[in-house]
Amino acid sequence: MSIAYSPPDPLGFLFSFANASNSSIVITDAQAPDNPIVFVNPSFERMTGYTGTEVVGRNCRFLQGEDRHQDDRAVIRDAVRNGTSCECLLRNYRRSGEMFWNKLYLFPFRIAGDAITHCIGVQHDVTLERRLLAELEQTASERARLIEQLELKRHHMGRLSRDLINAQENERKALARELHDELGQRLSALNLLLHRALPYFEQGEAQALWRQAERELGALVGLVRDLSVSLRPPGLDFFGLEPTIRQLLTRQFEAGPTWVFEYAGLPERLAPTIEISVYRIVQESVTNIVRHAQARHVVVEINGGADGRELELIVRDNGIGFDAASWREHAARTGRAGVAGMSERIQLLGGSLEVDSAPGRGTRITATLPLHPVENNHERDPGR
Ligand SMILES: Nc1ncnc2c1ncn2[C@@H]1O[C@H](COP(=O)(O)OP(=O)(O)OP(=O)(O)O)[C@@H](O)[C@H]1O
Ligand SMILES: [Mg+2]
Repeated sequence: MSIAYSPPDPLGFLFSFANASNSSIVITDAQAPDNPIVFVNPSFERMTGYTGTEVVGRNCRFLQGEDRHQDDRAVIRDAVRNGTSCECLLRNYRRSGEMFWNKLYLFPFRIAGDAITHCIGVQHDVTLERRLLAELEQTASERARLIEQLELKRHHMGRLSRDLINAQENERKALARELHDELGQRLSALNLLLHRALPYFEQGEAQALWRQAERELGALVGLVRDLSVSLRPPGLDFFGLEPTIRQLLTRQFEAGPTWVFEYAGLPERLAPTIEISVYRIVQESVTNIVRHAQARHVVVEINGGADGRELELIVRDNGIGFDAASWREHAARTGRAGVAGMSERIQLLGGSLEVDSAPGRGTRITATLPLHPVENNHERDPGR
């Protein structure tokens, strides 16, 4: 808001205001040749180090020293020529030679009539502000660079972790194949031989021994098959997670407990690393239930997170439970790596694991995993 006011002596008023001002003020005579300084206030003297007597009669450009190639000089030239006001930023030099950034507001002044009689410049030393701003910008760009580096490292770590898991799983797959194809085949051949030899062991102790050998061989075939299956779940590569887990639950809980399996909100296929990892977590949880829980009912849920970027896995049983707070300590003490191994695997994939259990209250394992894009094609190997 401006208030119309006419001081009795405009010039006297202007000079007392200028003398008292905290801003540096310069007044030049717009009608004299080369626009010489006719007045500077004490703030100007403090800012530049020059006294009034030293500068009166000179054009303001002397403050630029030899540093004449400055874009904003054109702004001043135009304003003076057109009789308009302007705002610009200049590198100026104090009497000591020290450079400072001068923020200048320049406007024309008329004592009477239309003709411009004076130019008034109001100046501020903004060196400190500019330095702080530059430092701030430097810090911000440094911070952005660090964040970018961190993001890159996180990305590399993620890739490395997935490579590690893949390498381990490939090793297991090769071992499973070896067991199934080599040892399994040889055991089958042995079984065949055994049956061919049966007529020679028709009675008495010889037949009892033959039956025992047959049982042993049967058990061995089963063992090799189970080992091969647990090393690499058949069907995971070909059929995907849902049917393979259903198969695992059917096999493991054949003799109880009862169970429910829900699979929802996820694409048909997930990245191989995710599929095998989820399978391994369910496998370990289910083995623990069979070995430790004495549960009557088990629920396994695998869901896509709300935004489709996460997978949530829950395995819960109503068994005897255990002191969940002590599983890390248990792992360190006994060297058993079931739950600890699960947790490590999930952390490698950037997810989290929660073990919720207490004696008499059943157990609930919740794993959350980020869903990575599919890294490579799934093997289509119907022969397995
Ligand atoms: N579902 C469960 N119900 C009851 N107790 C459990 C359950 N799961 C784990 N536990 C308890 O937690 C302990 C740690 O389990 P973890 O899987 O880490 O090791 P482990 O099963 O003993 O050995 P490993 O898995 O290495 O063969 C188990 O020994 C058991 O006492
Ligand atoms: Mg275990």
